[in-house]
Amino acid sequence: MEILGNNQHQIYFGDVFEALSKVPDNSVDLIFADPPYNIGKNFSGLLDKWDTEEDYLNWCYEWLQVCLQKLKQNGSMYVMTATQYMPYFDIFLRDKINILSRIVWYYDSSGVQAKKYYGSMYEPILYCVKDKSNYTFNASDILVEAKTGAKRKLIDYRKAVPSLYNSQKIPGNVWEFPRVRYRMDEYEQHPSQKPIALLTRIITASSNAGDVVLDPFSGTFTTSFVAKELDRHSIGIELQEEYVKIGLRRLKLSTEFKGEILKKDVRTFQSDTIDTKNSLNLFEDSNGPLVHYKH
Ligand SMILES: C[S@@+](CC[C@H](N)C(=O)[O-])C[C@H]1O[C@@H](n2cnc3c(N)ncnc32)[C@H](O)[C@@H]1O
Repeated sequence: MEILGNNQHQIYFGDVFEALSKVPDNSVDLIFADPPYNIGKNFSGLLDKWDTEEDYLNWCYEWLQVCLQKLKQNGSMYVMTATQYMPYFDIFLRDKINILSRIVWYYDSSGVQAKKYYGSMYEPILYCVKDKSNYTFNASDILVEAKTGAKRKLIDYRKAVPSLYNSQKIPGNVWEFPRVRYRMDEYEQHPSQKPIALLTRIITASSNAGDVVLDPFSGTFTTSFVAKELDRHSIGIELQEEYVKIGLRRLKLSTEFKGEILKKDVRTFQSDTIDTKNSLNLFEDSNGPLVHYKH
């Protein structure tokens, strides 16, 4: 395993368990964990599919347990997985940490429209804190527009002194953010990149400047990128070299890796001449042969 970066922003290039073993216990303020979902995606040649569901869940329980050890006593953790596995995560976690919200990240539409069932339009997120009487929640920094009463300038007569409805509120547990699309500025070549807007809400709410934010499955390093923008420190773990290179570039930690200049791929609409490699990636992952996970 290699540790790259600087004191504020570290990239652990290696397996999640080896990397987490280098992180001191009780040292992390916020964890955002977005693991492979066991749904067969191609992570730069690594197939996101375990032999059995039980194998997948046991692997998840192991890293979840280690993540809990790394969290400070007043720390928070957000965890994602596929809808069908979230109930197992919930049951595993609920007697180890306080689950405060079960969030639904809802988005416009999936690429392929379901014809004979209801298409998948959301991903679940568990929001947990170690100590429910002592945790960071910067409510006033994440307020959203309150649409109903305030917009219609209604008066709330239930109050001792009747007054206008609040024009802002803390978001509820259904969050609407568009998925990262090929044409968006933030797009990177990765099959399950999470949007900057999603991580901005999470990191703003659940950490303060100077805090340590850890992402055990960094992918395109959205978490570390947003942590840097918000003056937090970051630790990002990632197994695949292609994605570590994205992280080094996105976080401006290096302009090269092993002699290769780190540059963002030119997308088809940015170039006059069509780049066949990139245009293929619009429709499929073309990362070469898939390798199964071995645990
Ligand atoms: C769902 S993606 C994370 C996407 C990320 N949240 C983003 O915004 O780009 C999961 C990532 O975990 C990485 N990964 C898979 N197995 C791993 C392991 N054993 N250790 C570390 N990283 C791993 C994959 O390469 C993949 O990039």
